[in-house]
Amino acid sequence: MTENKTPKESVTLTDNSSGKSIELPLLAGTIGPRVMDCRSLYSQTGHFTYDPGYTSTGSCRSAITYIDGDEGVLLHRGYAIDELAEHSDFPEVAYLILKGELPNAEQKTKFIKDITYHSMLNEQISFFYRGFRRDSHPMAVICGVVGAMAAFYHDSTDINDPHQRMVASYRLIAKMPTVVAWAYKYSLGQPFLYPQNDLSYAGNFLRMMFATPCEDYKVSPVLEKAMDRILILHADHEQNASTSTVRLAGSSGANPFACIAAGIASLWGPAHGGANEAVLQMLGQIGSVDRIPEFIKKAKDPNDSFRLMGFGHRVYKNYDPRAKIMQQTCHEVLNELGIKDEPLLKLAVELERIALEDEYFVSRKLFPNVDFYSGIIFRAMGIPTQVFTCLFALARTVGWIAQWNEMLADSEQKIGRPRQLYVGSAPRKFVPMGKRA
Ligand code: SDX
Repeated sequence: MTENKTPKESVTLTDNSSGKSIELPLLAGTIGPRVMDCRSLYSQTGHFTYDPGYTSTGSCRSAITYIDGDEGVLLHRGYAIDELAEHSDFPEVAYLILKGELPNAEQKTKFIKDITYHSMLNEQISFFYRGFRRDSHPMAVICGVVGAMAAFYHDSTDINDPHQRMVASYRLIAKMPTVVAWAYKYSLGQPFLYPQNDLSYAGNFLRMMFATPCEDYKVSPVLEKAMDRILILHADHEQNASTSTVRLAGSSGANPFACIAAGIASLWGPAHGGANEAVLQMLGQIGSVDRIPEFIKKAKDPNDSFRLMGFGHRVYKNYDPRAKIMQQTCHEVLNELGIKDEPLLKLAVELERIALEDEYFVSRKLFPNVDFYSGIIFRAMGIPTQVFTCLFALARTVGWIAQWNEMLADSEQKIGRPRQLYVGSAPRKFVPMGKRA
């Protein structure tokens, strides 16, 4: 992590109510906005900062992912997402995000072997699924199963032991495909399939999702490559809501399985990872190109809670670079599957075209984000809508666990405990029942 240790520059804040001025150090990172170090603000002024949604707040130092929202740039450990998507594969990107460097051939082989040989779940966990209704939402199932993993893998829950932290990290990366595939199989009433060690990470997942014990299953190289690329595109994304949830949970010393379960819960929201499922529902609601104007109008109406799902982003005020690659992958997968003129894709492309010509979206810099096209690919691959966000969670597990490790290794980090602007009642006397209105 490169940064200037002794801040040379600062910001002077003057409190007009007291006339007092204070200096806040300006910290610079490698690239990107500098930060005002306001850790001493309360002790010096008695004031808190106020930033609902943390639109202008940096919560940590991180060397994992850098986003330039204005330029539509996304780097993982300095490497651009479009280069990683084109030239790398998910195991390599997972290694990069987790360890900070691209692996050499020997390191990559060992990492893949370690992950492959940790992909089975404790057999008892298979019974854990049976506590759920078959029609449970798979995000509810994987949230429960991942949290419960702390009950099965006690030997990797001591967060103060770097070896146990890495064992838990490998276990979570390795087992998430099995956890997700089993949630899907359980919903179908079909038997679970065990991981197969001679398959790739993406291929193993596809087989566990779609094979049955009744016949051999051949992994489609096209779908394997597409799934691998989609996993890369979802792997990490700076301090988004679910990553911040993982960091906050981890700051209390909670075990890694509990922290990742918390991340899954946060990702589920339709404003976040749940948007990929919501996009398909929205496209189904719109139904045809001629109804697009009606829904664009709804999205622009301040009195209507409807939003264009898959559009907009807190950081990207330009095209999400992942959305571009996702759209290209969408065309490739549909072509390879011989799906000509997929109506949902045509509808999505037309919706994007109309929105990006509309002043409301242009003025607010609302562009398609990573979730806008992913659902169309997943559907074409035969993945049911309710499983879309599980795939996001599967891929993001490496980002979450890398950020969790970074947080624990950061000497500046302590338990996260934000303050507030209190707007409730002033102190008042207790009112006995007989005297209440
Ligand atoms: C992900 O943070 C990450 O990095 C997340 C993520 C990751 O990889 O981890 O990138 C993954 O979560 C992508 C986002 C997926 N969510 C959606 O697609 C849901 C739809 N998008 C919106 O809910 C919204 O754009 C957010 C939540 C993504 C961002 O919300 P912000 O930054 O809080 O923006 P805002 O709500 O303040 O919106 C600013 C303006 C508002 O209008 P005005 O008050 O100025 O009149 O833009 C409008 C909003 O009403 N607006 C939209 C809109 N998104 C914002 N209007 C219509 N449709 C939309 N999608």
